[in-house]
Amino acid sequence: MTEQTDVSFGEQGAQLTYGSYLAVPELLSCQRLRSPAHDELLFITVHQVYELWFQQLLHEAAAARDAMLAGTAGEDGDLWRAQHLLRRVATIEQVLVQQIDVLETMTPQDFLQFRQLLAPASGFQSVQFRELEFLSGAKDPAYVDRFRGLTDDERQRLARRLAEPSLWDAYVSVLDRAGLPTGDEGALLGSLREVAHDRASYAAQWELAESLLHHDELAAAWRARHVVMVERMIGAKSGTGGSTGAGYLRSRLDLRYFPLLWELRSRL
Ligand code: HEM
Repeated sequence: MTEQTDVSFGEQGAQLTYGSYLAVPELLSCQRLRSPAHDELLFITVHQVYELWFQQLLHEAAAARDAMLAGTAGEDGDLWRAQHLLRRVATIEQVLVQQIDVLETMTPQDFLQFRQLLAPASGFQSVQFRELEFLSGAKDPAYVDRFRGLTDDERQRLARRLAEPSLWDAYVSVLDRAGLPTGDEGALLGSLREVAHDRASYAAQWELAESLLHHDELAAAWRARHVVMVERMIGAKSGTGGSTGAGYLRSRLDLRYFPLLWELRSRL
């Protein structure tokens, strides 16, 4: 016989609370303002929320990559999981693009009240942002050298991302296991065309390619949205991280993680 108790579900032991489980006191003590400016709290909060989402994106994208690598010929389960996780990646990235609107409610004058206190700190030094680029396939080791003040742990994380397979490497392994040629760019492009034209046979491969493209498209959308916001905030001034500012950011707008998936569009 089950024991009768008047304790509701979840109350047994009564050890855990909302605040202790989510570490709310710790979380709310991480916004350390450096000025009396009203808008500095918004600036810090928005950046911290980004870093939390970057952590989540790395968790999801790495798992999607692993699911693609783990699959074996004829087994669709892992490809379904990769697809499922990449859909989540894109949904989070849509939030990241929209979130710029919140920061943009700050005026340039109000930003100037505390901007000089930020230098030389800059979003350029977001380790997780660069990890995401490396994990996606845009592996440029020069960025590691351009970082200032990396901890040993951060340096190791970046080195590991440079060394490990990217999302693109994993997708190539999926094509390979489907029996499609992947030897060089020409062969890969041919295989991508085959997948695109024979969706009945390659449904999972096609859907994965589209999800990767969506991730790429949303990363490009974030870069475009960020630079316009930067121009609205600081015009042509140089960045706190020491770059030319909007000029540097505009030079990155053409970056694509999966150039062959874009090239495919011209070849269909
Ligand atoms: C007032 C708002 C902002 C301004 C004026 C601004 C300005 C800039 C500038 C000028 C750069 C170029 C590097 C430098 O010299 O500093 C940069 C880079 C960057 N910012 Fe922002 N930013 C703002 C908000 C944000 C937010 C909310 C994020 C979210 C995490 C962010 C993430 C980044 C990243 C990741 C880079 C490096 C981009 C790359 O290397 O392609 N920024 N930002």
